[in-house]
Amino acid sequence: MKRKKPLVIGNWKMNLTCSEAVKFAQLLRKQMITTNKIVCGISPSFIFLKDICTILADSAIFVGAQNIHSERAGAYTGEVSAFMVKEAGCSHVIIGHSERRHIFGETDAFINTKVKTALSANLKPILCIGEKLHERAGGKTTLVIENQLKNGLRGIGAEHIQDSVIAYEPVWAIGTGKTASPEQVNEVHTYIRGLLIDIYGKDIARDTYILYGGSVKPENTRDLMAQEEVDGLLVGGASINLESFLKILDSASNFS
Ligand code: PGA
Repeated sequence: MKRKKPLVIGNWKMNLTCSEAVKFAQLLRKQMITTNKIVCGISPSFIFLKDICTILADSAIFVGAQNIHSERAGAYTGEVSAFMVKEAGCSHVIIGHSERRHIFGETDAFINTKVKTALSANLKPILCIGEKLHERAGGKTTLVIENQLKNGLRGIGAEHIQDSVIAYEPVWAIGTGKTASPEQVNEVHTYIRGLLIDIYGKDIARDTYILYGGSVKPENTRDLMAQEEVDGLLVGGASINLESFLKILDSASNFS
């Protein structure tokens, strides 16, 4: 039993065509039977966000973008703004995913500006943080987490933190099939909760969702969700298969 309803978000990354995504969303809407026990969202590519938002309008499933630019508008060829995704119907946006940090070179300062821009557009940011394998091996996990969290949330007031979601995603567990052990996850989540308590106080920190992401599958959902400080999951690969995503939702809903 959790303090709040489990939150499970599917991050589709650069997968599915528009017709596949539309079919998925229609079936998800029809087949998801655990809506009152769980908060669920999916995060499709920009190009079909509007189609998916239309299909899921007035449903219990929210839609989030996978990224935004830090500026509100301007000469940024190929970029998409917070206001554009908001108008498409999104309520959330993933910010600072490790693929953005490490493939596209996004810095903590850039990520922090994106968090602020998202909030100013009335989008809930899902701020991703996580250490690389060599950082964990070198005993630097908590240092990396503290820097990414504090820098990512710099200047974000208590009135906004409850609109924000933190996702702990160890880089070495993303798309690798290697899940962090439930104990490792709970340890880092406890550390993150402690940092939030220091910054925002106990009540607000307790109400802030901290999700785990990294090779989440139907088979490990129960053990991960059973951890006290795990409020939900950010699912990549297993979220683009409807059957496995529904199994994860079903399993997570038992902790409601
Ligand atoms: P994965 O991705 O579940 O495929 O490991 C998680 C993520 O990157 O959000």
